[in-house]
Amino acid sequence: MKYGMDDYEAAIRPVKRQLFEELAAKLQRRSPAVVSDGSGSPAGPSRVLEVGIGTGPNFPFFTAALAGVATGSAGEASGADSAAAGPAQIPAPTQIQIQLVGLDPNPEMLRFARESAAQAGVRLASGLPGGDAAGGDAGTTPAQSGAGSALEVAGLVEGDVGSLPFADGEFDAAVCTLVLCSVPSQAAALAELRRVVRPGGSLLLIEHVAAGPERLLMRLAQSVLTPLQRALADGCCLNRDTGRAVAEAGWDAREGGALRRFDLEGMSILAPHVAGVLPRA
Ligand SMILES: C[S@@+](CC[C@H](N)C(=O)[O-])C[C@H]1O[C@@H](n2cnc3c(N)ncnc32)[C@H](O)[C@@H]1O
Repeated sequence: MKYGMDDYEAAIRPVKRQLFEELAAKLQRRSPAVVSDGSGSPAGPSRVLEVGIGTGPNFPFFTAALAGVATGSAGEASGADSAAAGPAQIPAPTQIQIQLVGLDPNPEMLRFARESAAQAGVRLASGLPGGDAAGGDAGTTPAQSGAGSALEVAGLVEGDVGSLPFADGEFDAAVCTLVLCSVPSQAAALAELRRVVRPGGSLLLIEHVAAGPERLLMRLAQSVLTPLQRALADGCCLNRDTGRAVAEAGWDAREGGALRRFDLEGMSILAPHVAGVLPRA
């Protein structure tokens, strides 16, 4: 994952850039202080959970989006959302803070994620949950770096998205990129994400999916190749209808609305994707 995803990351970069900007803009708008008095000084950091954080490829997108919020450019790409909110509700540019908790069942991934955070200049909280005592991040010492960053990694937790060790509504948003292809139960994962995200919160989702029914050959190829892909790629399935599962789990995933379906150029049978920043319905 750390060294073999360069082509994928290059292809998905514009999508990620836009969606993380959209998420940052939503978090800024929903900040209690911004809503209540418009003073531009949020009461506290937004809490975001990233499940299946892997090696941490999304840190640079968080930091770039937060920088965009600070300059007032974040969310400009999300035309529909901005139009719905109306110009009067968009506050003046302010800095927002995000406390991020990363979760992954694989402790090796968490070790790489910690390194990626430091490389991206992201602040790492001392005494991280899931650290040495819990065995989630053994062998590393909490470090302080990127102290000026608006993003702090508050925890790197070893765990399963199907059974999250967090309270109801604990997070303002969740991030899930390329995870639902390999979880044992999409329904359980999506229900847990909905439980821990507060009402009115968001899910940033990017997943490769099964081709639509109109592309029979592609669907067939994805089904035939899935057993091999599962064996080679840590349980990854090529033939899941993730868009439908997300909608059934209570996220606003209407295609043509918050959820976009598109082909990622050059990605062959991994090309069909769904992505969006989905409101918690
Ligand atoms: C293809 S990687 C994607 C990593 C990263 N999100 C990205 O976009 O590159 C899938 C990740 O999901 C994690 N994962 C697999 N099963 C999981 C589960 N049940 N709960 C949480 N994460 C899981 C894997 O350990 C891996 O880090």
